[in-house]
Amino acid sequence: MPDPVLVRSVADLRAVVHVWRREGLRVALVPTMGALHEGHLSLVRLARMHGERVVASLFVNPKQFSAHEDLDRYPRDEAGDAAKLGQAGCDLLFAPPASEIYPPGFATAVTVSGVSDDLEGAMRPHFFGGVATVVTKLLLQCLPDAAVFGEKDYQQLLMIRRLVRDLDIPVAVVAGPTVREGDGLAMSSRNAYLSANERSAATQMNVILKRAVADLEYGGDIAAIERDATMALDEAGFNPIDYVAVRDAGDLSVLGPRVDRPARILAAAWLGKTRLIDNFSVLPRAVAGNDA
Ligand code: PAF
Repeated sequence: MPDPVLVRSVADLRAVVHVWRREGLRVALVPTMGALHEGHLSLVRLARMHGERVVASLFVNPKQFSAHEDLDRYPRDEAGDAAKLGQAGCDLLFAPPASEIYPPGFATAVTVSGVSDDLEGAMRPHFFGGVATVVTKLLLQCLPDAAVFGEKDYQQLLMIRRLVRDLDIPVAVVAGPTVREGDGLAMSSRNAYLSANERSAATQMNVILKRAVADLEYGGDIAAIERDATMALDEAGFNPIDYVAVRDAGDLSVLGPRVDRPARILAAAWLGKTRLIDNFSVLPRAVAGNDA
């Protein structure tokens, strides 16, 4: 498979997409920050089911990193990413310089309140504003029929759904399931930062969360299970633990004392200098099939 056509300006992106539209082809967009792994490529393959043409964007968005975060060391490999995208069936790669996205004088910010206030929003206060701003721009620049986002960033996915609804952006938001390594670790570009010891400890995050899911679906007390999972992460070497939270799957509102509707367990914690996040679906007892 050839590499996708590379464009760096909004004008060139729009010119290509315009021709496709005139031909009656549907367009699906996969926004990324590069350092692509199988999780991203699964989103590209999913995008192919929603459009005859697939665009991927590659932009390490400075607005979603704060000063002390890893913007400078975030892994970058545009040539490698382009080759992987071609293999996965991407037609067009939009890889703009920062000046194309944020030209001098750029003064607009998009914020989504409610779903983005808590959890990641509380730990990384700049993050969702940066994501909302860049995603709004990418959607308006490309005007795709569908845009695909991973469930790995579950809160981000819910925020983007809210944003698209609130701003009447005519795009279908499609969710792609989290892709995992053989031992269950959620794939992430940041896994590349882990030392060998951290990598073997990292798998405990999914083990502990899956155990919590089983306990929750068996009818366990949410607060106790959140506490136990936090202690288990601590024992596995995660430090600090930003949160372990069981929330409503649709709007992340607080539930309790037991799971009585579709829910999500979400966690974020550090191994050394690497912050890992993960989440799993939790079904209420009767739906999960645990009724005695
Ligand atoms: O999930 C990501 O990789 C980023 O947050 C996104 C959606 C590409 C925006 O920069």
